[in-house]
Amino acid sequence: MTENPQAQAAGNAGNTDDESSEALIAVHWREEGYYPPPPKFTGQANASDPAIISQFGEENFPECFRAYADLLTWDKYWHTTLDTSNAPFWKWFVGGELNACYNCVDRHLGEHKNKAALIWVPEPEAESHQAITYQELYRRVNEFAALLRDFCGLKAGDRVTFHMPMVPELPIAMLAAARLGIIHSQVFGGFSGAACGHRIADSGSHVLVTMDSYYRSGDLMDHKVKADEAVETAAKEGQQVDKILVWRRYPGQYGSKTPMVEGRDFFVDEVLAEYRGATVAPVSMPAEAPLFLMYTSGTTGRPKGCQHSTGGYLSYVTGTSKYYQDIHPDDTYWCMADIGWITGHSYIVYGPLSLGTTSVIYEGTPNYPDAGRPWRIAQQLGVNIFHTSPTAIRMLRKVGPDEPAKYDHHFKHMTTVGEPIEPEVWRWYYETVGKGEAVIVDTWWQTETGGFLCTTLPGVHPMKPGSAGPPALGIYPVILDENGEEVPKGSGKAGNICIRNPWPGVFETIWGQPERFVQTYYAKYNKDADSKDWHDWPYFAGDGALHAADGYYRILGRVDDVINVAGHRLGTKELESAALTVEEVAEAAAVPVVDDIRGRAVEMYVSLKPGVTASKDIEAKVTTAIETDIGKIARPKNIWIVPDMPKTRSGKIMRRVIAATSNFSDTGDITTLANPEVVEKIRQQVQGAKAARGQVPRELTETEAEELKSFGSE
Ligand code: WTA
Repeated sequence: MTENPQAQAAGNAGNTDDESSEALIAVHWREEGYYPPPPKFTGQANASDPAIISQFGEENFPECFRAYADLLTWDKYWHTTLDTSNAPFWKWFVGGELNACYNCVDRHLGEHKNKAALIWVPEPEAESHQAITYQELYRRVNEFAALLRDFCGLKAGDRVTFHMPMVPELPIAMLAAARLGIIHSQVFGGFSGAACGHRIADSGSHVLVTMDSYYRSGDLMDHKVKADEAVETAAKEGQQVDKILVWRRYPGQYGSKTPMVEGRDFFVDEVLAEYRGATVAPVSMPAEAPLFLMYTSGTTGRPKGCQHSTGGYLSYVTGTSKYYQDIHPDDTYWCMADIGWITGHSYIVYGPLSLGTTSVIYEGTPNYPDAGRPWRIAQQLGVNIFHTSPTAIRMLRKVGPDEPAKYDHHFKHMTTVGEPIEPEVWRWYYETVGKGEAVIVDTWWQTETGGFLCTTLPGVHPMKPGSAGPPALGIYPVILDENGEEVPKGSGKAGNICIRNPWPGVFETIWGQPERFVQTYYAKYNKDADSKDWHDWPYFAGDGALHAADGYYRILGRVDDVINVAGHRLGTKELESAALTVEEVAEAAAVPVVDDIRGRAVEMYVSLKPGVTASKDIEAKVTTAIETDIGKIARPKNIWIVPDMPKTRSGKIMRRVIAATSNFSDTGDITTLANPEVVEKIRQQVQGAKAARGQVPRELTETEAEELKSFGSE
């Protein structure tokens, strides 16, 4: 890295004289100063070893990543660090063999057998937390692995779908699958049964592992009901599920109203009785064997099963957990994300457990029963590393701005992930949650990337609120314009952030859709499809970003048709196809609106078939369709039934124009539309109704306006 943010820290970050300076694009941004890392943190930081940084210079690529792979225990050492022969399907640590479960469990038994691997905190405060030692984790993982193998007949390479809430049985099931080389696909528990069913079908799973119920905001939710919907959806897509394994929130007590289907549905606690004390040898897997699939949204309706490798992925999350999460074995680490997202896979389960630390899992919502809950948990368990999203921070700040001060918790390190964080929210996190004692890392990355791409190195780089920071070790980003020209550092212009090089955590392919993989992530800037040289294959992240003069990256948001709601990626096509299942609906368009808590919320525009009149009933049907097909997280803030959609002459819906209408921002040039007159009609309808509902948004920041301008690529 040539940047030296420390040298800049004392001075001025921007190039104030330049006409096109960053200052002109976002005035409020220029006012952000640096925060030095707390000296107490720096003294103990894993990254304080200068050799680590120099080792990752580009001249040492790809061998630099040995430093991460050497944190693992390999059954067989690899012979080729990076194989580019089938570009851009990179293979890392070729020839190597290892087992992910062994690395996260067995290898800690020697030194840390009696230490808590997981501490599970149930949502009801009257239920005490459960600590699961490495020894107990070993036992429970082995027993469940025996069940997966002998009762379900699963073996290496098979897929198994999990639709689990935030309970320790989820990491247990993941590790049990990994022990046998079975590829797990955990679907976020908040997703609907239908969404789970599509993913079962796409992955070709015959077994679904779920739970009867779990707590959310004080209610015991019926979760098994979703399993019945899931298998029905999967069956419609031609995928038969033979077995549903149902964990019970309270073993022996069934918390769902849905009947168990004889011969198909089994209570795990009952079946497990036959496997008490069973041990299963970890299966040595090739480094490039898939460890898991993680589905995410893209520009078409079909979700993308991002396939992550065993050796490369585990190396990358272990290395980044060590240097960026600063995990030491005696830390108590709490990431409040859901394991159903990539953050939970990488930074609740695989990274922290591979390092042998204690990872906290919380079942419920952060503000239940009140906004002091996270700080009580942190105080009680002595959490010293805390990890969450801007949405959670905004929410806790809104409902309990003074709560953190009431508790005696002390974080050395705090992470934010998933969305851009506003500088004033960052400062509340730093000053009030962290009490000015903690280092903060704002980590930019994606489901596809396995681990962090841009973030400050804690204890080394100064922090700049709202900015992710320099690239992570061994990552060489570049910002390219639409013509593939580099947008230089400090130019003040935004462009598409790409990563020039492969890294071990990058996903291997989209399950079953290799062409879509190449097309979506690599084709845009590749000039020679036959090239075997990685330099010819920049990874296209799908985010807009700015590269400041000090080398820090500021992420603006998605440049594709994805809406980031509270850190969850929702594809406009998925939302729209759900709305189109409503009989009366002729056309549908989903757009983002700026939301003070969730970052963005979804608004749906629909037009109706000829002869159908608008009604509240149709609006309700659209909401239900979206909740059924995707889940409650996707519920639109408003549904607008409009007379017509603004369209181009070739008939494409101009989402950018309706997004501007919803956000009360400038619609830009509409003279080229086929039906420009409809824009004013919609504006009056929507903005009039929003004013009446008290939903007039605050003025957009310039970065938000910038993001919305590029929304909806048509
Ligand atoms: C956004 C989550 C700004 C970005 C790990 C990315 C961020 C998408 C940040 C990936 C951040 C993630 N600052 N934006 N620190 N982190 N994003 O796949 O748009 O759920 O492309 O992975 O979230 O979301 P995903």
